[in-house]
Amino acid sequence: MNYYEKAKQTFESLREREDYYILAYESSCDETACAVIKGREVVSSIISSQIDIHKRFGGVVPEIASRNHILAIDSITDEALKIAGVELKDIEVVAVTYGGGLLGALLVGLCYAKALAYGLGIPFIGINHIKGHIAANYITRSDMAPPFIALVTSGGHSSIYKVEGFLDKDMKKLGETRDDAIGESFDKVARVLGLGYPGGPEVEKLARNGKSTFSFTRPFKGEGHLDFSFSGIKTAVINILSNASARGENINKADLAFSFQHAAVSYVVDNTMEACRRTGISRVFLAGGVGANNYLRNMLVEEGKKNGVEVMLPDIKYCTDNAAMIGVAAFEEIKAGALPSDLSLDASPSL
Ligand code: KG4
Ligand code: ZN
Repeated sequence: MNYYEKAKQTFESLREREDYYILAYESSCDETACAVIKGREVVSSIISSQIDIHKRFGGVVPEIASRNHILAIDSITDEALKIAGVELKDIEVVAVTYGGGLLGALLVGLCYAKALAYGLGIPFIGINHIKGHIAANYITRSDMAPPFIALVTSGGHSSIYKVEGFLDKDMKKLGETRDDAIGESFDKVARVLGLGYPGGPEVEKLARNGKSTFSFTRPFKGEGHLDFSFSGIKTAVINILSNASARGENINKADLAFSFQHAAVSYVVDNTMEACRRTGISRVFLAGGVGANNYLRNMLVEEGKKNGVEVMLPDIKYCTDNAAMIGVAAFEEIKAGALPSDLSLDASPSL
């Protein structure tokens, strides 16, 4: 029997089980991550962050990210196995992010995972990064199940999904950004405010001392769809700063950070509540790096209470990129009937 036929047989036998180990990888951007998962339980989760390397460039440099993934991936694998107290022979599936993200960065994790799986004679499965972010909620609440509305708020994506199961055919996109992702707009606003990278947490910190002073026009008002646009809000922030500087006026940066954060966050929260009204689904999963933002977490819970919607919040440590969420997404896909990936699977930056 060839490798793929054997992999399919193994998946069949795993569907009903919860007691097997998945070794998971994430390398789509600037974190090299490896985790060992058993069902929805995280047995170990290692993240080697490159933030300090990219900080001096004010953003992620793709080539440098790929090189550093190569340097880190072997040692984080050893560490994840050691902390989990397991060996490679105990692993039954290898899971890996295959898109979206930076091509070179994705390829490091994907090639490593394929080679490992093939060498061990076990199946591997490529995971969509966004599904990983959504699955992070299951780590915190293992009793949860679809249907739910997922609000995805990361550095590369911002979208709202109706989720009725964990296979692609059961996930329907209800709205998405037409330009910048929400995390990207936080990062850009941080840059013009003279804050560090990554900008999201810095804007949140500065906004804690600010109040609502500036207002921004929300695009698409009254158009009836659930899409977003953040580039106009970001440009308005830039204009406020440059107009003030031309006039020699001082701007209260904390107020500007607060006002921007309020505009961006209330936008996605309002559209999410509207998605619940339209679908009749009264449960929301928050997902993605901006999900670590407490202003967003609190507003989503508050609005949920007002609208009779139950809100799931992943642990802050599982909001930003990690491999544990990729492993749990793999477990959910296998349970839902997914096939293993073929060894010809390629990285898909714009997935
Ligand atoms: O999901 P993620 O780790 O990576 C992508 O898949 O893109 O998201 C990273 C994004 C960055 O833009 C970062 O600035 C933002 O999440 N972020 C935050 C916070 N923590 C991370 N944005 C706002 N507030 C935060 N506390
Ligand atoms: Zn991410």
